[in-house]
Formats: sequence, structure tokens, C-alpha cells
Amino acid sequence: HGERTFVMVKPDGVQRGLIGEILSRFEERGLKVVGGKFLQIDEELASEHYAEHEDKPFYDDLVSFITSGPVFAFVLQGADATRQVRSMVGETDPLEADPGTIRGDYGLDLGRNVVHASDHEDEGANEREIALFFDEEDLVDYERID
Ligand code: CMP
Repeated sequence: HGERTFVMVKPDGVQRGLIGEILSRFEERGLKVVGGKFLQIDEELASEHYAEHEDKPFYDDLVSFITSGPVFAFVLQGADATRQVRSMVGETDPLEADPGTIRGDYGLDLGRNVVHASDHEDEGANEREIALFFDEEDLVDYERID
């Protein structure tokens, strides 16, 4: 039960061996992993995922970075999951992100900020992003023992 939200370890996080660390933080916090996929994003998926940024000056860099290597995309479920995840991820710019947040602890710069998480201020972004990366049959709910 609870809301589902989309999270992705970006190519910099995968290359630096941070998948396990990042998953652990969410698991320890009580968020339930209900789906996961290791993949290399192609241009088409990148343009859909980043459609809202199409007109931004950094768009081309964004697409080339996110397609530059494999990512680990996953779905978390829990009470108020989108907001909870965002607070654990921290501000977009690692220089602004608080210590103790994922970006605050591991982020290098605006592009190499280790993770993507659905925006809690964008209504429905979580389910939209989940649908972009996963078929419903890839997501499995179960009881977690805490
Ligand atoms: P994210 O929130 O995952 O999705 C949009 C991304 O755009 C954001 O993370 C940053 O990594 C990136 N981004 C935002 N602003 C800039 C910028 N000025 N230059 C480069 N990348 C940016």
C-alpha cells in the first residue's frame, strides 16, 4: 500500500558504484522496492523523460549525459513516497543540497547529481515516469516486515 514513486541512479552514480548505497538508504527508511531495471536509456526514452526541459539551454547536455551509460531505475512504494524520496535526495544542485541527503553526500555538480526522483510538486509525475520505464506486470506489491 501507499504511493508509488520513480527513482533512477544516473550514469555517474552507476559508474561510481553507488547503486547499493542508494537502495539501502531507501530500504532502511522503510520504503519498499516494488520494481527495478538496469538499462541504457536511448535518445527516444531520454526525450520523453526530459520533455519538460526541451527548451532549456542545458537540454542537449542533459540528453547526452543520461544516455552516456547505464542507469538503475526503480520504483519505491510507501506513505507519501514521492515527497519522502525528494527530501532524502536533496536539492538539484549538490552545492545547495544538505549534508545527509544523497546529492549532498555524493553529488558533484548540477548534471552529475547521482539520482533522479519524481517531482512531488508536479502532480502525477510519479506515475507518468513509472509508466515510461515499466510495464505494470513488472511491478510487484508484497508485505514488508519492518
Ligand atoms: P533532474 O531533476 O533529475 O532532471 C532534470 C535535470 O537537469 C536535473 O536533475 C539536473 O541534473 C539537470 N539540470 C538542471 N539544471 C541544469 C543546468 N543549469 N545545467 C545542467 N544540468 C542541469
